[in-house]
Amino acid sequence: MSFTVPHDELAQLEDRVRAALRTRDDSALDVLGYGEVSLVLRLESGDGAFACKRLPVFPDGGRFERYEESLREYLRRLGDNGLDVADTELWHTRLPSGRITAYCVQRELPAHRLCSRLLHTEDDIWIKDFFSRFLDRVERAVEPTLGLDAQANNWMDVGGELVYIDVTTPLMRDARNRERLDVRLFFSSLPWFLRDAVRVSMTKSIFDKFYETRGVLLDFLGNLYKERLHELVPAFLEQANARLSRPITVEEVAAYYRDDARMWELIQRLRQADRFWHHRIRRRTYPFLLPPRVER
Ligand SMILES: Nc1ncnc2c1ncn2[C@@H]1O[C@H](COP(=O)(O)OP(=O)(O)OP(=O)(O)O)[C@@H](O)[C@H]1O
Ligand SMILES: [Mg+2]
Repeated sequence: MSFTVPHDELAQLEDRVRAALRTRDDSALDVLGYGEVSLVLRLESGDGAFACKRLPVFPDGGRFERYEESLREYLRRLGDNGLDVADTELWHTRLPSGRITAYCVQRELPAHRLCSRLLHTEDDIWIKDFFSRFLDRVERAVEPTLGLDAQANNWMDVGGELVYIDVTTPLMRDARNRERLDVRLFFSSLPWFLRDAVRVSMTKSIFDKFYETRGVLLDFLGNLYKERLHELVPAFLEQANARLSRPITVEEVAAYYRDDARMWELIQRLRQADRFWHHRIRRRTYPFLLPPRVER
């Protein structure tokens, strides 16, 4: 069932976000979750509660329209491949400068049904069944031009169905294997001195894994270390390897996690330095809400 985004309430939420950026005080915001890229904010309205994911500010209407199209196409293609995706609406507002602020909006789903949470609380039978359903979904969804970021905190188990929630970064490639995402815009929270280097040298390696089942699974398993769920890795490997032509080893998962953690930690540290530079040196508002430091 799709829904109508409460326009006035979202406009007020955006005002609160802008105030938080200006004052560097985000205590008036209700944070639902932290991703690597964005903050997810909760919005209560007369029509229920919503999860609102703020996107980087679009410099002009054309860039926004291209995003809107690709988001729609991404949602449609995932659905066509049998994935149950949380209903997602795009809300936006135009600033006097012509720039556009936008949010991906979903109905708030119950936090205790987040799969990374359930893997901590449910028993072995549930866990094994979860992983087998998960493997089915991933195998069916992923294509060389259609990617998936399948980490455990991107799924909810509601009404006996795995629902995929992380769609803000549509992962699609063109026929020549180039990312269709506005990578420049989505990396705009990186300090300027990194942006180009990262775009050129890291884009392909960051994204490659999302476009094949083996890479998606390696990323899922590696992320279990961050979630303090690594004791599940051996059993999951057995289940996964039964379906893979080239098996994954425990060592490979651990090494993958070390590299991935190091990369995100570096990015996080550089963002904090950049924010400091904005505030203290240039006395300007830093345009992103950053998640707090995570233990890795
Ligand atoms: N519809 C929702 N209902 C409840 N909680 C949600 C919902 N969507 C997201 N969350 C919470 O916010 C967290 C991050 O959400 P999501 O994965 O969509 O963003 P993200 O990881 O920051 O995405 P990206 O890294 O692509 O920016 C989730 O793990 C979950 O805890
Ligand atoms: Mg996520």
